[in-house]
Amino acid sequence: MDRIRVVGGRPLNGQIAISGAKNAALPLLAATLLTGDKISFTNMPGLADIKTMSALLEQHGAEVEREGDFLSVKAEEIPNTVAPYDLVRRMRASILVLGPLLARFGNAVVSLPGGCAIGTRPVDLHLKGLEALGAKIELGRGYIHASAEGGLIGGEIDFPVVSVGATENLLMAAALAKGESKLVNAAREPEIVDLANLLVAMGAQIEGIGTDVLTVQGVDQLHGAEHSVVADRIEAGTYAIAAAITRGEIELTKVDPTLFDSLLDLMEKAGVVVDRGTDSVKISCGEMDLVGADAITDPYPGFPTDLQAQYMALMCTAKGAAMVTETIFENRYMHVPELSRMGADINVHGASAMVRGVDILYGAEVMATDLRASSSLVLAGLAAEGETLVNRVYHLDRGYERLEEKLAACGAEIARVPEE
Ligand code: EPZ
Repeated sequence: MDRIRVVGGRPLNGQIAISGAKNAALPLLAATLLTGDKISFTNMPGLADIKTMSALLEQHGAEVEREGDFLSVKAEEIPNTVAPYDLVRRMRASILVLGPLLARFGNAVVSLPGGCAIGTRPVDLHLKGLEALGAKIELGRGYIHASAEGGLIGGEIDFPVVSVGATENLLMAAALAKGESKLVNAAREPEIVDLANLLVAMGAQIEGIGTDVLTVQGVDQLHGAEHSVVADRIEAGTYAIAAAITRGEIELTKVDPTLFDSLLDLMEKAGVVVDRGTDSVKISCGEMDLVGADAITDPYPGFPTDLQAQYMALMCTAKGAAMVTETIFENRYMHVPELSRMGADINVHGASAMVRGVDILYGAEVMATDLRASSSLVLAGLAAEGETLVNRVYHLDRGYERLEEKLAACGAEIARVPEE
C-alpha cells in the first residue's frame, strides 16, 4: 500500500484549482438510473469512489463513458436491480441507488452498507422514508429487499434528524412517485442543491431547493440532461487550511467561497486573512499569529463535520485553546491519537475535544483511519518539523484528486512512496 511522505516547515504559496465535489458526484451518478436517456457530466472528479460508483452502475447494466473530467451514463437497459455486498461494503454511498431503482423499476435489492470507522451509519431514515412513499421493505441476510408494486406514491416524510443521504435517496424516489411528496427537515447541503438542479434539468418538479422543506410533484418519466458537478467545498476547505497551517498564501480557484463560508468565517476569527472573490478565494496569514477559535459541527450551513479533523490540525498550531465539538458522528476523533503522536495537545471529553496550541509539531509515522482523518494528518505533516509518513493512503484517494500534486505545486515537499 502506498504512503504519503511529507517534510514540513515550508510556507505554501501558489494556486490550487478545486475539483468537482465527491459528495455531489455520487448522488448525481445514482440519479442517472432514473432515466433511460444519457446524462452527461463535466467537472467530474477523478476519485476512487467515482470509479466504484461507475462500476456499480455498470453491473446494473448502465453504459458509462469517461474521458478526463467528462463522464456520461446511459441506463437504458437495467436487467439487474441488485447492488451486491462486495461493492456496497467498499462505499456506503452505494445505498443511493436504492431510491432510483425502486422508483423506476418497482424493485431493488441493495446490500446493507454496514458501519464504518466514524460510526454505525444506520440507514433507517432511508428505509422509513421509502415506506412513507408506499414501498415494501424487508431485510434479510444483510440485504434490503424493496418493492413497490404499481410504483411509489407521493407522501410526507418528516426527518427526525437531518440526513444528507436519506434526503438524496428520497428526493430521487419522489421525483417519479405518483402525486406530491414533501420532505420536511431535509438536509440543505450544496450537494443536495446540485442534485435537485440535475433532477429539474431531467424534468423533475421540485420546489424549495436549498431550504429544509422540499416539495416534489412526481412525473411519469425523466429525460436526459447535461450537468457540471458543483465544486468540492471540503477539498477547498482542506487546502484553505493547508495555506493557514503553513502560514503561506494560496489562491483557491474554480470554487464559490460561499459554499464554505462557515469555515472561512471561523478561520478569520482565528486570525487568518480571507480575501473572497466570486469564483475564488485567497487565504493568507497577517502579522498576528493565529489564535484558537471554537468549532461545533452542524448540518449545512453550519460548520461541516467533514472539515472537523482538518480544522483540529490547524488549531494544534494556533496560540491558546480551541474547543472542537463533533455533533454529527459518534466516533470521529480517530485522528486525535495520531496528531498527539506528532506532539499535539488534545483532550477528548465525550463529543468535545479541547485543543491547546503547541509551538512545534514533530513529524512522525502515522496511520490514516478514514478519509478526512488522513487529510488532517497530511496537514499536520505540512506544518511539522521533519518527516511525516502517512500510511493507508487509499483513504485519501477516495476523496482527494491528485492531492500531493496540488500541494507540491505550491511548494510542499510531499510525495507518494511505496510501502517498504
Ligand atoms: C454524507 O454522509 C457524506 N457522504 C459524509 O461525508 C458527511 O460526513 C455526512 O453526509 C454529513 O454531512 C456523502 O455525501 C457520500 P448523514 P451520510 O445521513 O449521508 C445519522 C466524507 O468524508 N443517520 O447526513 O451518510 C448518521 O448516523 C463523508 O466525504 C441515521 O441515524 O450522512 C449520522 O449520525 C463522511 N439514520 C447523521 O444521521 C439514517 O438513516 C448524519 O448522517 C441516516 C443517517
